[in-house]
Amino acid sequence: MNPSGTGNSWRVGVLFSQTGVTAATEQTQLNATLLAIEEINANGGVLDRRVEPVIYDPASDPKLSRTLAERLFQVDRIRLLFGCYMTSTRKAVLPVVESHRGLLFYPTFYEGFEYSRHCIYSGAAPNQNSLQLAKYLLSTYGNRFLLVGSNYVYPYESNRLMTDFVMQDRGKILDEIYVPLDAGSKDFDKVIRRIKKTSPDVIFSTIVGRSTALFYEAYRAAGFDPRTMPIASLTTSEADVADMRPEAAEGHITAAPFFATLSTASARRFVGSFRERYGPDAPVTAAAEAAYFQVHLAMRAMARCGSDDPERVLLELRDAEFDAPQGRVRIDPENNHAYLWPRIARLDQHGRFQTVWNPGVRIKPDPYCVVQSLDDWSADDLQSSSH
Ligand code: ACM
Repeated sequence: MNPSGTGNSWRVGVLFSQTGVTAATEQTQLNATLLAIEEINANGGVLDRRVEPVIYDPASDPKLSRTLAERLFQVDRIRLLFGCYMTSTRKAVLPVVESHRGLLFYPTFYEGFEYSRHCIYSGAAPNQNSLQLAKYLLSTYGNRFLLVGSNYVYPYESNRLMTDFVMQDRGKILDEIYVPLDAGSKDFDKVIRRIKKTSPDVIFSTIVGRSTALFYEAYRAAGFDPRTMPIASLTTSEADVADMRPEAAEGHITAAPFFATLSTASARRFVGSFRERYGPDAPVTAAAEAAYFQVHLAMRAMARCGSDDPERVLLELRDAEFDAPQGRVRIDPENNHAYLWPRIARLDQHGRFQTVWNPGVRIKPDPYCVVQSLDDWSADDLQSSSH
């Protein structure tokens, strides 16, 4: 088969939103994807051919994401696609990828319970972020949770899992509230009232996108104390925090495999290159870090097989490893997800994530949560991380 691209370049598809509700985080993913491609091209490309990204803006919209994916495969003739943040967009795009026998590289934490042999999942599955966060919150703050999320599939499913974990601890879900994806301040009035009324130990937030900052600001304005009742989240990243005042961010908690404040040499190198390229205040997120390392993994696989044929690239990705900014990652051939390094951080008074829990272990992905025990997650630690 002929590789995609014209003569002397490899053409790949890139689909991250530059507009719409999740633009802030997706822009960090786009930046990271292009940074990795630039690094590869500066080193001679792949087998002496440049990598050429074909970029569209799906505007945080599942339907438009699907249309643009169709165009990338049919008109632009790409075979490998890097993209998607919200689960709703991944679910819209994946059937297109499958029908063209392509390969989607998806760099976002998500709810799990999915497998496609046409997708590499480089963000965290629930056993690599939710489980650890639940355990930390239950042992640090208490077991009476209030759940609040954006009104779409990822928050529903993520809350369902968090509920299972809280129940294992004989805890209680005091309320489960959904606001529109593009919620305004008024939508949060009810949430604040319910928090006042129920007085939980923890707020678990699966609010996604630009209304995140509004929620944290409303929380602060209501006078709640994050030291005794934090907002804990998997979705609130450096990109959301950049949109709030540090006073509104301070004390709240996020679990992720990567934070821009990590002090390892590879994390400092990545954040340094990112900020050199995009400016000193450019937010760097876990979703961006996954977007970055998955390009490197994909291009190495292409270099090894000399092709962008998705079947051949997939074969090369079996057990493939890469020294990512978060630590050495690996693609699990059982499920196409990545072995990752869970961490938990609390926001300080400057709005910077400071690590509060970092076990230094790499966790095998378990996207279907086969092991769904709060006490069992570390059993999945891979002993062969020195491979
Ligand atoms: C998400 O929708 N996976 C954040």
